[in-house]
Amino acid sequence: MPALIVGNWKMNGLGEDIAEIAAMAGSGGRGLWIAPPFTLIDRAVIVSAGAVKIGGQDCHANEKGAHTGCVSAAMLADLGAGFVIVGHSERRRDNGETDAGVRAKAIAGKAAGLEVILCIGETQGQRDAGETEAVLAAQLEGSLPDDAEALIIAYEPVWAIGTGRTPTLDEVAAAHRFIRERLAARFGGAGHGVRILYGGSVTPANAGELLRVDEVGGVLVGGASLTAQSLLAIAAAA
Ligand code: 13P
Repeated sequence: MPALIVGNWKMNGLGEDIAEIAAMAGSGGRGLWIAPPFTLIDRAVIVSAGAVKIGGQDCHANEKGAHTGCVSAAMLADLGAGFVIVGHSERRRDNGETDAGVRAKAIAGKAAGLEVILCIGETQGQRDAGETEAVLAAQLEGSLPDDAEALIIAYEPVWAIGTGRTPTLDEVAAAHRFIRERLAARFGGAGHGVRILYGGSVTPANAGELLRVDEVGGVLVGGASLTAQSLLAIAAAA
């Protein structure tokens, strides 16, 4: 399975930045996935012309209704998005999202025909307290949908996001191995087919070694995904 490189633009990007997605699509970026802000999805789908898969950074758990300011998975699919990220730690932190709420979003995303990237990860305090595996197990237990179809897990240690700090390769390997065990326990054979991404301060300089770690099936990239130059360098490292 070739490595999957996913860019999460977070709350970044105006109309002029569509040129970056066009550049990714035009030069060796085939197979990349980008989650721009909702406001750019429509244009991103058009300029990517199928070469780059476009997705949402979040969705509401309901298909439609009285939820001012929210976007449903069906709306994302309607725009031509192919995937959705759910449970990102910034949403858990800023919007009080719970594991049960994340599970509902994952189910909604799958129901709309999207692939779902479900994010989990421990905080620095939890790692220091030796709770990393307990936290990951609880997040998986509470937020996994009922089957492994169209499911991708992203392991993003909260303390590695946007900090320039990454776990050691051994720590990444241990976390991914643990997640794989939990997925196999939950889904049986299908749990072995779920791709597990690493996220948190991935750059062109460290992507190669991270992607060579056992059970790392790709990377979820924040800051270094904002320009074609940087994301294509990560793709080249893969
Ligand atoms: P950075 O790559 O900026 O650390 O962000 C990682 C992330 O949160 C991707 O979802």
